Amino acid sequence: MLKAVNLTKKYGSHEVLKGISFEIKKGMIYGFLGQNGAGKSTTMNILTGLIGYNNGEIYLKGKPLKEDKRKLLETVGYLPQHPVFYGYMTALEYLNFIGQVNKMSPKEIKERSKEILEIVKLTDASKRKVGGYSGGMKQRFGMAVAMFNHPEILILDEPTSALDPEGRMEVLELIEKLKSDGTTVFLSTHILNDVERVCDEVSILHEGKIVISENLEELRNKYIQPIYDVEFEEECSGIKKKLLPLSWVQNVSIVKNQASIYVSDLSIAKQELLKTLAAEQNHIVSFNLRKSNLEDIFLRLVNKNVDL
Ligand SMILES: Nc1ncnc2c1ncn2[C@@H]1O[C@H](COP(=O)(O)OP(=O)(O)OP(=O)(O)O)[C@@H](O)[C@H]1O
Ligand SMILES: [Mg+2]
Repeated sequence: MLKAVNLTKKYGSHEVLKGISFEIKKGMIYGFLGQNGAGKSTTMNILTGLIGYNNGEIYLKGKPLKEDKRKLLETVGYLPQHPVFYGYMTALEYLNFIGQVNKMSPKEIKERSKEILEIVKLTDASKRKVGGYSGGMKQRFGMAVAMFNHPEILILDEPTSALDPEGRMEVLELIEKLKSDGTTVFLSTHILNDVERVCDEVSILHEGKIVISENLEELRNKYIQPIYDVEFEEECSGIKKKLLPLSWVQNVSIVKNQASIYVSDLSIAKQELLKTLAAEQNHIVSFNLRKSNLEDIFLRLVNKNVDL
């Protein structure tokens, strides 16, 4: 659907993108992760034709974007990181304006406005001035504007970052709904929970390069390090000596009556660990497998410079 090949971008002598490549397949929700200043917005502005780039190639639906930029970009909807609206217009007036820009007929504009405002749950506020909307409402309205023209791919730059938990939830639900309707979504964020919740694939942008590009499930499987947290009735330092020699145990850390057991082979650990521990005099109070989340993986990849 959308493919970037070896994109580079310099602001003066500052090379923000040092040759990034990725592919967003049709129907996917694709997460674009990176710390502040990593170049996420820069990439999105390039993909939507708002700013130029130095080298590389962009393909939209298999065609080079350069060849027919105007026509190809008609299939792309974009919600910038800091959308600016004419705050004195009501939602309906604003959508009317967007529809006219897109050369839609008055009838089409009216129908689409009604439909889209229902989707983003702003029907009741449709006659209020957009300037008076809350942050969450503005964000949802921004999505309505981006989706107005039935784009096949929607590019959302940090759609949830400025929102409170409830507002975030509403926007995430909307994104999930879009996916079920077949829209492809490319979204940037630094909120890892949101990525875990809605994305199928992710890329992590770091120091101008994509350090990882992977299906979320595969990413988890690849980088997961299973840890069992076990609480005993009494102080448990004795188990360390017993567990460490086992081939499937990588490390054991003990704090009073709590043990964290890092295992290298989850399938053996599932069968053996509880048995081994149950043979102890010290009784088990709780036993939990801690799943590593995207945050653990992200920190390992980005901060600790794990060699890939
Ligand atoms: N117009 C510009 N001129 C010069 N430098 C710029 C310009 N726009 C962005 N930059 C620089 O490029 C780098 C990437 O910025 P960008 O806004 O793309 O990052 P980002 O990943 O979107 O960050 P954030 O998470 O804060 O939104 C930053 O170092 C920024 O200062
Ligand atoms: Mg940004």
